[in-house]
Formats: sequence, structure tokens, C-alpha cells
Amino acid sequence: MNSLLPYQPIGVFDSGYGGLTVLRELVGALPDYDYLYLGDNARTPYGTRSFETVYDYTLECVTYLFEQGCPLVILACNTASAKALRNIQQLDLPLLYPGATPDALPTRRVLGVIRPTAETIGQYTQTGHVGILATNGTVTSESYLVEIAKFFPELIISQEACPMWVPLIENGESGHPGADYFVKQHLDRLLARDPQIDTLLLACTHYPLLLPKLRAALPATIRPISQGPIVAQSLVDYLNRHPDLAEQCSRQGTRHFLTTDSPTEFSRQASLFWGEPVVAEKVVF
Ligand code: DGL
Repeated sequence: MNSLLPYQPIGVFDSGYGGLTVLRELVGALPDYDYLYLGDNARTPYGTRSFETVYDYTLECVTYLFEQGCPLVILACNTASAKALRNIQQLDLPLLYPGATPDALPTRRVLGVIRPTAETIGQYTQTGHVGILATNGTVTSESYLVEIAKFFPELIISQEACPMWVPLIENGESGHPGADYFVKQHLDRLLARDPQIDTLLLACTHYPLLLPKLRAALPATIRPISQGPIVAQSLVDYLNRHPDLAEQCSRQGTRHFLTTDSPTEFSRQASLFWGEPVVAEKVVF
């Protein structure tokens, strides 16, 4: 029955390319679903922008994905999850779709990446000391501190904003020697604040591209954790718990990529994050 549905993909949103590291894991875990990715490359980075700006941009992109038929949108961007998710869930969805209660069909849902990460991060640490590497926006929102405290109040959490990492990655420098300085700078600062950290959460969708450098710079006792697999497992669980929503998502196994900036540039850069070239289309709101 599901395959006869009209095109109703799972929307995946990010400020740019980074969300592709999450989409890759979602596709690996749930390959049958259709996915529609939107990168707001024209307005990236979000990590340095104000709460209001990130919220406005994110709402515009999420609304666009709903208009394309997505019953469910994943904010695969920590900054957007930190600054926009709660307002969109609590204020905008009820206004945009007054019938969209958990019992009403068709529905519209938006999920972020912070809560699923917070729910599981305590499983990785032996020392109970966790480091969080993220954008300025995510760090100053304190969303991880608040969410992790709900599930693992005993954990000691230290945050470090790494404002140079996204530009380095976006400019193709993540594998080059110049990146070593900035990787070491932020790791040293964080570990000086808490030498007992044994678990390092990469709380920005771009950062998995720095994993080889992080692993080389970190002692073997510290484990870097990427979010993609955590978010994918969380989506598997969520769709199992919400079969009504799962039924609304079409399953032809397609993947489409949209960008608010140049599709040619998106196609070129996206292969860094996706692992192979993609064909992208430009959207204008
Ligand atoms: N995708 C964003 C995140 O996960 C980082 C990139 C940006 O600053 O726009 O926080």
C-alpha cells in the first residue's frame, strides 16, 4: 500500500552540506524511504547567526519541505535544532496545520538531532565526563546541557565552540596540514578544562569530516562520537512507535537534493560529505 502513495519523502534539512553526513546514515538504516534533502547554502553558516535569524531561515526551509509533501522533516543541523526546533514544534506547527495532532491524519512532524543524542550519550562514557564540540550558536544555546541533564544528570559536560572548523571543512581544508592547528587548539582548550573527558561528541554535522585528524590528535582513551548513527537509530525507533506517520512516508527509495545556492557548486562539494557526486536542484522561496 505504501508504495502507491504519492511522493511523500522524509525531509532532511541542514544549513548546508553537513546534514549529508546524517542523511547517509538515515539511508543506510532505512533505505526504502524517499528522502528530500534541502541545504540552505545561500545563507550558511547558521552557527554564527542570532536566534531570530536561525529560526526565521529554518522555518522557511521546513515550510518549503512540507509544501513539497514531506510528512516528516528532520533538522539534521545542530544549530537549527538548538535555536528553532522548539518554536516550530510548539508554535508554528499548530498554526500551520491546526489538525496536526498525534491522532489526526495527515500530520506534519519535525524532529531534531539534539534530543536523540542527549538520550544516548551517557552510554559511551566510563568516566562520566563528556566533551561537546559545536558551533557558537549551539554552545551558547546550552541546549545540550539542558537536554543531557534530563537523561544523565550525573554527567559532567564541558563545551567548546569551534568557529573555524566549518569554514575549514567547507573550503576543502579538512585533510590538509593547516587544519591541524585549529583542531589542536580546540581540543587542547577543552581537555585543559576537563582532563577526565573520555567521550567527545561531534555536535555539528560537519565535524565527522575531521575525524581522521581528531583521532590522530586525541589520546586513545578519548572516543569521538558522530551523531549520524545515533540519529538514524532514533528515527528507526520513532517510525516503529508511530506507524501512522511511517505509513504516510512514501517508499520508492529515491533521494533528491535541493539547495538555495548554486546547484553546480552543491554537486561538487556534496560529494565530500555524501561520498559520491550528487545532482542538485536550486530552490527559490
Ligand atoms: N550544520 C551546522 C550544525 O550542525 C553547522 C554549520 C553552520 O554553521 O551552518 O550545527
